Amino acid sequence: MGDQPLVTLKGITKSFGAVQSLRGVDLTLAPGEVLGLVGDNGAGKSTLMKVLAGAVQHDAGQITIDGREVRFASPADARRERIGIVYQDLALCDTLDVASNLFLGREPRKGPFIDRRAMHEKAAETLSDLHVRVKSTYQEIGHLSGGQRQAVAIARAVSFKPRVLILDEPTAALAVAEVRQVLAMIKDVAAQGVGVILITHRLQDLFEVCDRITVMYEGRSVEDEPVSDLDIERLVAMITRSGSEHTEEVA
Ligand SMILES: Nc1ncnc2c1ncn2[C@@H]1O[C@H](COP(=O)(O)OP(=O)(O)O)[C@@H](O)[C@H]1O
Ligand SMILES: [Mg+2]
Repeated sequence: MGDQPLVTLKGITKSFGAVQSLRGVDLTLAPGEVLGLVGDNGAGKSTLMKVLAGAVQHDAGQITIDGREVRFASPADARRERIGIVYQDLALCDTLDVASNLFLGREPRKGPFIDRRAMHEKAAETLSDLHVRVKSTYQEIGHLSGGQRQAVAIARAVSFKPRVLILDEPTAALAVAEVRQVLAMIKDVAAQGVGVILITHRLQDLFEVCDRITVMYEGRSVEDEPVSDLDIERLVAMITRSGSEHTEEVA
């Protein structure tokens, strides 16, 4: 892990009409770190990550990347800063094959035509680098298991060579063996120096892959602790703010 944070979010706020989803969130992420982002439903996790990915524009607060303040007007701006995100509902195209999904919108070309052979070769290489096994890169995405789809979605995000990779509930609908594969991918990607932010309700997964955990509660970041200082029971108390050490603040 480097000394300077890769990402710093400071005092991020966001309202949708009368709903104040983010009320001042602080978060940091170091290169090669896996940060768990947890909180009850509606705490603001997905909104915060959309802000970092340029899909939602915050009202106030600062985003700093490598010590430089940035402002994202669109997902393309965030992509240019090499921030990758895999959304909760995977944006894959069921009727296209694995390789086409991996390279959708930036297919290798030969003159005006998509170079299918090169695309499938590159797809196979990308997947094998990430230890993802699919029968064939010609398989339609719609025919794959949930875990394989998730793996392809992550592989697509990784193929953009992100510095930051955000995963919003990547294991929510997966079978046990598939969860293992996704967790292994996360470790692989972080080992290459990418900062990973993992949102999940599967708290046991956090203890397996995370270095640190940030807890959100009603639009605020309320806790930030190394995983080595935590156990599941304490984490649950932090998420629900039920522990004796978490007395309600007066707003
Ligand atoms: N586009 C939107 N319009 C209105 N309200 C929204 C929008 N996106 C999120 N919210 C609200 O913001 C709050 C936080 O939502 P979200 O970020 O999805 O929480 P989490 O991911 O932690 O479950 C919720 O009350 C949600 O209803
Ligand atoms: Mg969410």
